[in-house]
Amino acid sequence: MSLLTEFKQIHLTKVEAEMRQFLRQQTTDETLLKSMLYSVDAGGKRLRPLLLLATMAGFNQKITLGAYQTAAALEMIHTYSLIHDDLPAMDNDELRRGIPTNHIKFGAGMATLAGDGLLTEAFHLLSRAELSTELRLLLLQNLAKASGTVGMVAGQAADVQGEGKLLSLEEMAFVHQRKTGALFTFALTAGGLLAEQEESVVDLLQTLAQHLGLAFQIRDDLLDVTATKDELGKNVGHDATLNKSTYPALLGVAKSSQLLAAELAATKDCLKTLQMTSLVKPELLMSLIEELTLEVQA
Ligand code: IPE
Ligand code: IPE
Ligand code: MG
Ligand code: MG
Ligand code: MG
Repeated sequence: MSLLTEFKQIHLTKVEAEMRQFLRQQTTDETLLKSMLYSVDAGGKRLRPLLLLATMAGFNQKITLGAYQTAAALEMIHTYSLIHDDLPAMDNDELRRGIPTNHIKFGAGMATLAGDGLLTEAFHLLSRAELSTELRLLLLQNLAKASGTVGMVAGQAADVQGEGKLLSLEEMAFVHQRKTGALFTFALTAGGLLAEQEESVVDLLQTLAQHLGLAFQIRDDLLDVTATKDELGKNVGHDATLNKSTYPALLGVAKSSQLLAAELAATKDCLKTLQMTSLVKPELLMSLIEELTLEVQA
């Protein structure tokens, strides 16, 4: 079994248990609970919690309960963002994580509320996490910044407004960096902060995450053109239908693939620099980056 597969088996179960346990404890309305757990239990790659925990482990730090709780809060925010992203008023998608989207199953009203619930309870969970008061407050602020109106929500707003428009490459990179890169940035920097790394190291993790987040969204745009519904567990070809501003729409598949490769190379460079200074075990992060390097067929 690879190191990464083993790491996933050991640690993701704990992150998932934190999400489920907290939501069950805090929710009295049965339908709302079912709706939230429907999307949480649908799985997904759990990439953001993995990045957070792999970063912490990379500094040779034992993963603590507080780290699992932080990772759980992050995955709850991500899951909420997907539920809202799929709503009829947004991307109007019917398939997510291999099953019908939340609003197809529970209706748009309940799906909106499931998203609201996951968002709110993510911050509730982090506010009660087993961390020092100082670190807890810093992580709360960072998570708010990453998910909110300068981060993911701002990116989603720009994405919606970008429909039917021809954005420049810089404008599009800025959309992608916020709608997707911001949560990646939280994942990596939180991993560094939980491992008590100094500011210069956390700054380097931020740079790495910005490249990785952009790469991930370029890849997601490409997969919408090149992959199948079964491979992704979501409908494909949807970005073109919605006239989304995407990398392949602006540049075509070949040029977008080149930019993806360049962003991944920049990510690996950051990892090498980190390795020279303070990252003791880069293998897990490298394997996670490698998974995203899997070629996107033209
Ligand atoms: C999908 O994210 C939304 C994007 C930011 C492209 P993921 O591809 O990480 O979705 P899951 O969590 O695996 O379902
Ligand atoms: C979504 O981007 C990014 C989010 C913040 C949820 P997409 O709209 O491209 O994600 P998919 O393709 O629906 O997963
Ligand atoms: Mg979208
Ligand atoms: Mg979408
Ligand atoms: Mg997409």
